[in-house]
Amino acid sequence: MSTFESSAAEPRCTGVDASMEPSVAWAQEWIARRQTVLPKRLAAPGPDEDQRLALLRAAAAAPDHGQLVPWRFIDIPLTAREALGDVFAQALRERDANATQEQLQQAHEKARRAPLLWLLVVNGDPQLGAEPVPWRERLLSAGCAVQNVLLLATAMGYGSALTSGKALDATCLRRAFALHANEVPVCFVNIGSVVQARPVRARPEPERIFSVWTPPAVS
Ligand SMILES: Cc1cc2nc3c(=O)[nH]c(=O)nc-3n(C[C@H](O)[C@H](O)[C@H](O)COP(=O)(O)O)c2cc1C
Repeated sequence: MSTFESSAAEPRCTGVDASMEPSVAWAQEWIARRQTVLPKRLAAPGPDEDQRLALLRAAAAAPDHGQLVPWRFIDIPLTAREALGDVFAQALRERDANATQEQLQQAHEKARRAPLLWLLVVNGDPQLGAEPVPWRERLLSAGCAVQNVLLLATAMGYGSALTSGKALDATCLRRAFALHANEVPVCFVNIGSVVQARPVRARPEPERIFSVWTPPAVS
């Protein structure tokens, strides 16, 4: 029996009622179906207002040590995409004074793609909250929030992608989004209707991502 199977004598999954099993299968199905769909393959329609609220509520269900709420999303509506394109082009100019017009144009176009575009920002302010919560936990909380958003978007029938890029390190981007000194822009969340579906990539087998700890011998 592998570590991932259970015998009849053991509970199959602590806290899960047998009558819930169809929902377990449903959850597994949507988790497995989530895959990156690049923004160039995402088109309108994107999530409507109710769906956007539901996505934010899913994000808010993420584990959050000390209830710091150490992350937030900033929406970039379609009317602001031209301005974001300008920021991307400026960011490229900041790091490469010799960037060609074509490269600047490509950087600019990246802002236009997905119908829903959110910037994820994580707060590293040491004063935040009653107890100190390290950066790694804040970042992990943000990762959980994003995954909740991606999974719910998948269940809603949308495609999604996280995008990053060097523009996130640019001073002009920090200024454009009026980020506080301790805030770090982590990635963009892109959601929309899938124009061209692709097969889900092979996932790592459980054995590759799991081991059982053997305590060191006591001397
Ligand atoms: C924080 C983060 C940022 C990412 N940024 C980019 C990006 O800028 N461009 C890109 O092509 N893929 C980006 N990816 C997507 C990964 O390349 C993608 O998840 C990977 O190809 C695995 O595919 P899957 O999500 O379908 O499993 C990013 C992923 C993460 C987690």
